[in-house]
Amino acid sequence: RDSVLISPSILSADLANLGRDLKMIDNADLIHIDVMDGHFTQNLTFGSGVVAAAKRSCDVPLDVHMMVTNPDETIDWYIDAGADYITVHYEASVHLHRTIKHIQERGCKAGVVLNPATPVCVLESIIEELDMVLVMSVNPGFGGQSYIESTYAKLRQLRGLCEAHGVSPLIEVDGGVSSKNIKQVVRAGADVLVAGSAVFGADDPRAEVDLLRELGNR
Ligand code: DX5
Ligand code: ZN
Repeated sequence: RDSVLISPSILSADLANLGRDLKMIDNADLIHIDVMDGHFTQNLTFGSGVVAAAKRSCDVPLDVHMMVTNPDETIDWYIDAGADYITVHYEASVHLHRTIKHIQERGCKAGVVLNPATPVCVLESIIEELDMVLVMSVNPGFGGQSYIESTYAKLRQLRGLCEAHGVSPLIEVDGGVSSKNIKQVVRAGADVLVAGSAVFGADDPRAEVDLLRELGNR
Protein backbone atom coordinates (compact mmCIF):
# COMPACT_ATOMS: atom_id res chain seq x y z
CA ARG A 1 0.00 0.00 0.00
CA ASP A 2 1.04 3.61 -0.57
CA SER A 3 0.65 4.77 2.99
CA VAL A 4 -0.55 3.51 6.32
CA LEU A 5 -3.83 5.00 7.52
CA ILE A 6 -4.20 6.63 10.93
CA SER A 7 -7.57 6.31 12.66
CA PRO A 8 -7.68 8.34 15.90
CA SER A 9 -10.17 6.98 18.44
CA ILE A 10 -12.51 9.62 19.83
CA LEU A 11 -12.86 7.56 23.01
CA SER A 12 -9.90 9.59 24.27
CA ALA A 13 -11.12 12.93 22.90
CA ASP A 14 -12.54 15.70 25.09
CA LEU A 15 -16.17 14.65 24.72
CA ALA A 16 -17.41 18.04 25.93
CA ASN A 17 -15.60 19.53 22.92
CA LEU A 18 -15.98 16.77 20.36
CA GLY A 19 -16.56 19.10 17.40
CA ARG A 20 -13.42 21.05 18.24
CA ASP A 21 -11.37 17.87 18.67
CA LEU A 22 -12.60 16.45 15.35
CA LYS A 23 -11.51 19.64 13.55
CA MET A 24 -8.16 19.48 15.30
CA ILE A 25 -7.42 16.06 13.76
CA ASP A 26 -8.96 16.48 10.32
CA ASN A 27 -5.59 15.45 8.86
CA ALA A 28 -6.45 11.87 9.95
CA ASP A 29 -7.31 9.21 7.35
CA LEU A 30 -10.27 7.79 9.28
CA ILE A 31 -12.04 8.63 12.54
CA HIS A 32 -12.45 5.61 14.83
CA ILE A 33 -15.71 5.57 16.80
CA ASP A 34 -15.99 2.95 19.55
CA VAL A 35 -19.60 1.87 20.01
CA MET A 36 -19.88 0.00 23.33
CA ASP A 37 -23.17 -1.28 24.69
CA GLY A 38 -22.51 -2.02 28.37
CA HIS A 39 -23.06 -5.75 27.65
CA PHE A 40 -20.41 -6.91 25.21
CA THR A 41 -18.13 -4.50 27.03
CA GLN A 42 -18.58 -3.17 30.56
CA ASN A 43 -18.21 0.33 29.26
CA LEU A 44 -21.01 2.23 27.51
CA THR A 45 -20.19 4.86 24.92
CA PHE A 46 -21.61 6.26 21.70
CA GLY A 47 -24.98 5.81 20.03
CA SER A 48 -25.77 6.48 16.39
CA GLY A 49 -26.59 10.10 17.27
CA VAL A 50 -22.93 10.70 18.03
CA VAL A 51 -21.95 9.14 14.69
CA ALA A 52 -24.41 11.48 12.92
CA ALA A 53 -22.97 14.46 14.82
CA ALA A 54 -19.43 13.47 13.87
CA LYS A 55 -20.52 13.14 10.24
CA ARG A 56 -21.88 16.69 10.28
CA SER A 57 -18.75 18.17 11.80
CA CYS A 58 -15.97 16.56 9.74
CA ASP A 59 -15.21 15.23 6.28
CA VAL A 60 -12.93 12.38 7.34
CA PRO A 61 -14.46 8.91 6.73
CA LEU A 62 -15.93 7.31 9.85
CA ASP A 63 -14.61 3.94 11.05
CA VAL A 64 -17.29 2.56 13.38
CA HIS A 65 -16.18 -0.26 15.71
CA MET A 66 -19.28 -2.04 17.02
CA MET A 67 -18.60 -3.63 20.41
CA VAL A 68 -22.18 -4.78 20.89
CA THR A 69 -24.09 -8.00 21.30
CA ASN A 70 -26.59 -8.59 18.47
CA PRO A 71 -25.10 -6.07 16.02
CA ASP A 72 -27.80 -7.01 13.47
CA GLU A 73 -30.38 -5.21 15.57
CA THR A 74 -28.67 -1.82 15.35
CA ILE A 75 -26.14 -1.61 12.49
CA ASP A 76 -28.64 0.07 10.19
CA TRP A 77 -28.86 3.06 12.53
CA TYR A 78 -25.11 3.54 12.25
CA ILE A 79 -25.17 3.15 8.47
CA ASP A 80 -27.96 5.75 8.28
CA ALA A 81 -25.89 8.02 10.53
CA GLY A 82 -23.09 8.08 7.96
CA ALA A 83 -20.62 5.33 8.90
CA ASP A 84 -18.15 4.60 6.09
CA TYR A 85 -16.67 1.46 7.63
CA ILE A 86 -18.49 -0.83 10.05
CA THR A 87 -16.68 -3.58 11.91
CA VAL A 88 -18.49 -6.23 13.96
CA HIS A 89 -16.99 -8.65 16.45
CA TYR A 90 -16.68 -12.29 15.46
CA GLU A 91 -17.52 -13.14 19.09
CA ALA A 92 -20.84 -11.27 18.92
CA SER A 93 -22.11 -12.35 15.52
CA VAL A 94 -24.03 -15.56 14.93
CA HIS A 95 -24.79 -14.93 11.24
CA LEU A 96 -21.56 -13.23 10.34
CA HIS A 97 -21.74 -13.77 6.57
CA ARG A 98 -25.25 -12.34 6.40
CA THR A 99 -24.25 -9.35 8.54
CA ILE A 100 -21.20 -8.55 6.39
CA LYS A 101 -23.20 -8.84 3.16
CA HIS A 102 -25.93 -6.63 4.59
CA ILE A 103 -23.46 -3.87 5.50
CA GLN A 104 -21.95 -4.00 2.00
CA GLU A 105 -25.32 -4.04 0.25
CA ARG A 106 -26.14 -0.85 2.11
CA GLY A 107 -23.06 0.79 0.61
CA CYS A 108 -20.66 0.56 3.54
CA LYS A 109 -17.28 -1.13 3.86
CA ALA A 110 -17.49 -4.11 6.21
CA GLY A 111 -15.03 -5.79 8.53
CA VAL A 112 -14.71 -8.40 11.24
CA VAL A 113 -13.01 -7.77 14.60
CA LEU A 114 -11.11 -10.44 16.54
CA ASN A 115 -10.64 -10.24 20.30
CA PRO A 116 -7.15 -11.05 21.61
CA ALA A 117 -8.10 -14.67 22.45
CA THR A 118 -9.85 -15.36 19.14
CA PRO A 119 -7.59 -17.10 16.59
CA VAL A 120 -7.13 -15.96 13.00
CA CYS A 121 -8.34 -19.32 11.65
CA VAL A 122 -12.00 -18.44 12.38
CA LEU A 123 -11.81 -16.09 9.38
CA GLU A 124 -11.07 -18.93 6.95
CA SER A 125 -14.61 -19.04 5.47
CA ILE A 126 -15.30 -15.29 5.46
CA ILE A 127 -11.96 -13.66 4.58
CA GLU A 128 -12.74 -13.34 0.87
CA GLU A 129 -15.82 -11.21 1.62
CA LEU A 130 -14.13 -8.65 3.87
CA ASP A 131 -13.05 -5.07 3.20
CA MET A 132 -11.28 -4.96 6.56
CA VAL A 133 -10.09 -7.14 9.44
CA LEU A 134 -9.66 -5.45 12.82
CA VAL A 135 -7.25 -7.19 15.18
CA MET A 136 -7.69 -6.15 18.80
CA SER A 137 -4.37 -5.68 20.54
CA VAL A 138 -6.09 -5.03 23.90
CA ASN A 139 -9.28 -6.42 25.42
CA PRO A 140 -12.09 -4.14 24.29
CA GLY A 141 -13.62 -1.68 26.71
CA PHE A 142 -11.19 1.08 27.57
CA GLY A 143 -8.56 3.34 26.08
CA GLY A 144 -5.05 3.61 27.44
CA GLN A 145 -4.31 -0.12 27.89
CA SER A 146 -1.01 -1.71 26.90
CA TYR A 147 -0.45 -3.45 23.59
CA ILE A 148 -0.53 -7.27 23.85
CA GLU A 149 2.74 -8.54 22.35
CA SER A 150 1.30 -11.75 20.87
CA THR A 151 -0.60 -9.54 18.38
CA TYR A 152 2.52 -9.43 16.20
CA ALA A 153 2.38 -13.18 15.57
CA LYS A 154 -1.34 -12.94 14.91
CA LEU A 155 -0.81 -10.24 12.29
CA ARG A 156 1.71 -12.40 10.48
CA GLN A 157 -0.75 -15.31 10.51
CA LEU A 158 -3.47 -13.06 9.16
CA ARG A 159 -1.22 -11.90 6.36
CA GLY A 160 -0.59 -15.57 5.54
CA LEU A 161 -4.31 -16.30 5.44
CA CYS A 162 -4.94 -13.35 3.11
CA GLU A 163 -2.12 -14.41 0.79
CA ALA A 164 -3.42 -17.99 0.69
CA HIS A 165 -6.81 -16.66 -0.44
CA GLY A 166 -5.40 -14.03 -2.80
CA VAL A 167 -7.21 -11.17 -1.06
CA SER A 168 -6.04 -7.99 0.63
CA PRO A 169 -8.57 -6.52 3.04
CA LEU A 170 -7.31 -3.59 5.09
CA ILE A 171 -5.72 -4.89 8.27
CA GLU A 172 -6.44 -2.62 11.23
CA VAL A 173 -4.91 -2.82 14.71
CA ASP A 174 -6.62 -1.34 17.76
CA GLY A 175 -5.22 -0.85 21.26
CA GLY A 176 -2.01 0.43 22.73
CA VAL A 177 -0.56 1.69 19.44
CA SER A 178 1.86 4.62 19.82
CA SER A 179 4.97 6.14 18.28
CA LYS A 180 6.94 3.54 20.28
CA ASN A 181 5.56 0.46 18.54
CA ILE A 182 3.89 1.63 15.33
CA LYS A 183 6.78 0.66 13.06
CA GLN A 184 6.79 -2.89 14.39
CA VAL A 185 3.01 -3.15 14.12
CA VAL A 186 3.15 -2.05 10.49
CA ARG A 187 6.02 -4.40 9.77
CA ALA A 188 3.92 -7.29 11.12
CA GLY A 189 1.19 -6.46 8.59
CA ALA A 190 -1.03 -3.56 9.73
CA ASP A 191 -2.41 -1.03 7.22
CA VAL A 192 -4.67 0.96 9.54
CA LEU A 193 -3.60 2.03 13.01
CA VAL A 194 -6.08 3.10 15.64
CA ALA A 195 -4.67 5.44 18.26
CA GLY A 196 -6.70 6.97 21.07
CA SER A 197 -4.59 7.98 24.04
CA ALA A 198 -1.47 8.39 21.86
CA VAL A 199 -3.19 11.06 19.75
CA PHE A 200 -5.41 12.85 22.26
CA GLY A 201 -2.87 12.59 25.07
CA ALA A 202 -0.23 14.34 22.94
CA ASP A 203 0.51 18.03 23.36
CA ASP A 204 -0.34 18.53 19.69
CA PRO A 205 -2.78 15.82 18.53
CA ARG A 206 -2.70 17.00 14.92
CA ALA A 207 1.09 16.76 14.76
CA GLU A 208 0.92 13.36 16.47
CA VAL A 209 -1.30 12.02 13.66
CA ASP A 210 1.29 13.13 11.10
CA LEU A 211 4.12 11.73 13.19
CA LEU A 212 2.43 8.33 13.55
CA ARG A 213 1.82 8.16 9.80
CA GLU A 214 5.39 9.13 9.05
CA LEU A 215 6.81 6.54 11.46
CA GLY A 216 4.44 3.89 10.07
CA ASN A 217 5.59 4.60 6.51
CA ARG A 218 9.28 4.33 7.27
C1 DX5 B 1 -10.77 -0.26 23.07
C2 DX5 B 1 -11.14 0.53 21.85
C3 DX5 B 1 -10.02 1.30 21.28
C4 DX5 B 1 -9.43 2.37 22.19
C5 DX5 B 1 -7.97 2.44 21.87
O1 DX5 B 1 -11.86 -1.05 23.42
O2 DX5 B 1 -11.62 -0.34 20.84
O3 DX5 B 1 -10.37 1.85 20.02
O4 DX5 B 1 -10.00 3.62 22.01
O5 DX5 B 1 -7.36 3.32 22.77
P1 DX5 B 1 -5.78 3.38 22.92
O6 DX5 B 1 -5.21 3.77 21.60
O7 DX5 B 1 -5.62 4.41 23.98
O8 DX5 B 1 -5.31 2.00 23.35
ZN1 ZN C 1 -11.88 0.47 18.78
